[in-house]
Amino acid sequence: MSKVTVIGAGNVGATCANVLAHQDIVNEIVMLDIAGDLAKGKALDTWQQAPIDDYSTRVIGTSDYADTAGSDIVILTAGVPRKPGMSRDDLITINAKIVSGVTKSILEHSKDPILIVVSNPLDVMTYAAQKTSGLPTAKVIGMAGILDTARYRAFLADALQVSPKDIQAVLLGGHGDTMVPLPRYTTVSGIPVTELIDTETLNKIMERTKVGGGELVKLMGTSAWYAPGAAAAQMATAILKDENRIFPCCIKMEGQHGLRDVYVGVPVKLGAGGVKQVIELKLNEDEMALLNASAQAVKSVMDAYDALGL
Ligand code: NAI
Ligand code: 2OP
Repeated sequence: MSKVTVIGAGNVGATCANVLAHQDIVNEIVMLDIAGDLAKGKALDTWQQAPIDDYSTRVIGTSDYADTAGSDIVILTAGVPRKPGMSRDDLITINAKIVSGVTKSILEHSKDPILIVVSNPLDVMTYAAQKTSGLPTAKVIGMAGILDTARYRAFLADALQVSPKDIQAVLLGGHGDTMVPLPRYTTVSGIPVTELIDTETLNKIMERTKVGGGELVKLMGTSAWYAPGAAAAQMATAILKDENRIFPCCIKMEGQHGLRDVYVGVPVKLGAGGVKQVIELKLNEDEMALLNASAQAVKSVMDAYDALGL
């Protein structure tokens, strides 16, 4: 019997639960939210989709942590999203309290779950969840890299008029405007992207990727949810099916890439038990400098989290 809990039944949480239910690989998904009967309603709606879309995953909504007991994976999407003009870091004061509180409640009912963190500011909320839970770092993983890389791949697919399925890419660093797309590690069906696109267009795509979340906030007045929800579900799937997928995910650095005690996105191997391996790239000096700058930006917000004394 496998069980996944999604905390927060808002835009991202409900999408994630819905996408994961469609995989039909987990027995039960529990959606929990503090907002009245929101989770119950969205869970019932997703369960009523099962006969149409042909899946058996039971989806339950609740506001009671007792219903989350024995979860194998808990996906944290609780918190406020950005409004136009805000950075992800502006969310720290509100979301830090929510993420710390939620993490404590989860651990009261599930002994040893894997936590997939989505709430922003992502890298710092992943740190908050690990610090609060005391779980091994391999079991507390932030979702951002799959989303940011997907944006980069989608923009490249448009520019090259190819399927996004054929674009492979790696993106490092924090989930903010300092993130580091890596053209040297970007290929189109094995062909280095630099052989197919001019430098100016590629640079424009990388810059658009860095502010990709903000572009959607401007368009919608709130942040994105379809791609983010699907990205978190993809991480859960890799773990549940022990797929050993290589994805960029946020995790604590313990010496890799010369970084220590800071949370940033790097390629990891995801399977049963969480992160099985952190993959270290042979970065050149310029790439290393960009990653260091991104890590520094995250570190300053981690310090701000520590100063809250939660
Ligand atoms: P939303 O406002 O649609 O949903 C958030 C839900 O959290 C609400 O239903 C709210 O009632 C619930 N909530 C608040 N406090 C709670 C608590 N203590 N316990 C349980 N539930 C609680 O927001 P949305 O769009 O779903 O975004 C959620 C979070 O995910 C935001 O912080 C957003 O910035 C972040 N996000 C992160 C992404 C990433 O790449 N890591 C991508 C997209 C969003
Ligand atoms: C995003 O990148 C806001 O983090 C969220 O869409």
